[in-house]
Amino acid sequence: SGQQTTTAASNDATHDSAFLKACRREPVPHTPVWFMRQAGRSLPEYLKVREGIAMLDSCMMPELVTEITLQPVRRHKVDAAIYFSDIVVPLKAIGIDLDIKPGVGPVIAEPIRTRADLARLRDLTPEDVPYVTEAIGMLTAELGATPLIGFAGAPFTLASYLVEGGPSRNHERTKAMMYGDPQLWADLVDRLAEITGAFLKVQIEAGASAVQLFDSWVGALAPADYRRAVLPASAKVFDAVAPYGVPRIHFGVGTGELLGLMGEAGADVVGVDWRVPMDEAARRVGPGKALQGNLDPAVLFAPTPAVEAKTREVLDAAAGLEGHIFNLGHGVMPSMDPDALTRLVEYVHEQTAR
Ligand code: CP3
Repeated sequence: SGQQTTTAASNDATHDSAFLKACRREPVPHTPVWFMRQAGRSLPEYLKVREGIAMLDSCMMPELVTEITLQPVRRHKVDAAIYFSDIVVPLKAIGIDLDIKPGVGPVIAEPIRTRADLARLRDLTPEDVPYVTEAIGMLTAELGATPLIGFAGAPFTLASYLVEGGPSRNHERTKAMMYGDPQLWADLVDRLAEITGAFLKVQIEAGASAVQLFDSWVGALAPADYRRAVLPASAKVFDAVAPYGVPRIHFGVGTGELLGLMGEAGADVVGVDWRVPMDEAARRVGPGKALQGNLDPAVLFAPTPAVEAKTREVLDAAAGLEGHIFNLGHGVMPSMDPDALTRLVEYVHEQTAR
């Protein structure tokens, strides 16, 4: 039928997109660009549609999720969309009592701190997140050739929110469990790996063309602790989605010393923050992986010539990479000028056109 033909055609075009080619380390017509947190408070059109709707509620409204996900694609002409949701959505979906407090982040009513608490982390099934399947179906129909990135929080970062009860600078309680009760910790991150793997599968089955596992706060760990206490759980997530063959991206902040291990965990693309130049990051990650990054987000607050000079530095450092996806070293900030982001996309495209 016509419907199927359209879907097949857009699937081929998506497969041949610059973003997915770069993930596969194939030649690209230009360096693809997208921004972590590209949807959100930097955009007036986002603030408008979110008015009066709580963050977590908005994640469960497929039409709204579709609109918000498309907003930065329309405005900035980025090479990929990222599914609008939050890392705590799968936890909420299995019944964990939590909320996202504006200006704070995720807050957990009853933190997970004992073996008995683990029983509250039940398996996630597609029936727990019907709004994800529905929204991604709508999105892939609208996106045409633009790939959709699904995502989830990695076991360490999710565990930190669950154990601390909310955002934390030093992750004291998390590390106390990790060092003090290694078996409880291992069981906790293993549970989270099951849930996260299942959540990513739902997104891929619904049509996501790539997935990113955010281990935002894992840079708090030394490599030996990462290898022992985190890598097995993150690897379990990557293994769970390996059969689909979609690119798997792995990102964290302050992970310069962990880049090689994050690749080893099973990522096809390793995300790099702004602290390590891309060529040095490539040496740390080793061959056979693409890299994503890594303009310091704060550079966007400088005048255009400075943004272009710093962007040129990133592109030069990334010139010899097997595959490069341009991104910021962390997320878009709410106070950023959206026009500066649009100009940045244009600049990278124009500078790298082949
Ligand atoms: O465009 C996109 O990147 C998709 C949307 C997205 C959100 N959260 C929406 C959101 C993504 C990918 C996330 C992931 C996420 N959530 C991470 C990993 C990414 C990173 O930045 O390292 C983390 C650590 C969280 C937890 C979380 N949720 C935080 C720290 C906050 C910010 C709190 C605040 O108000 O400053 C949230 C809330 C949140 N998630 C917002 C958005 C757009 C802001 C809330 C709002 O708009 O009302």
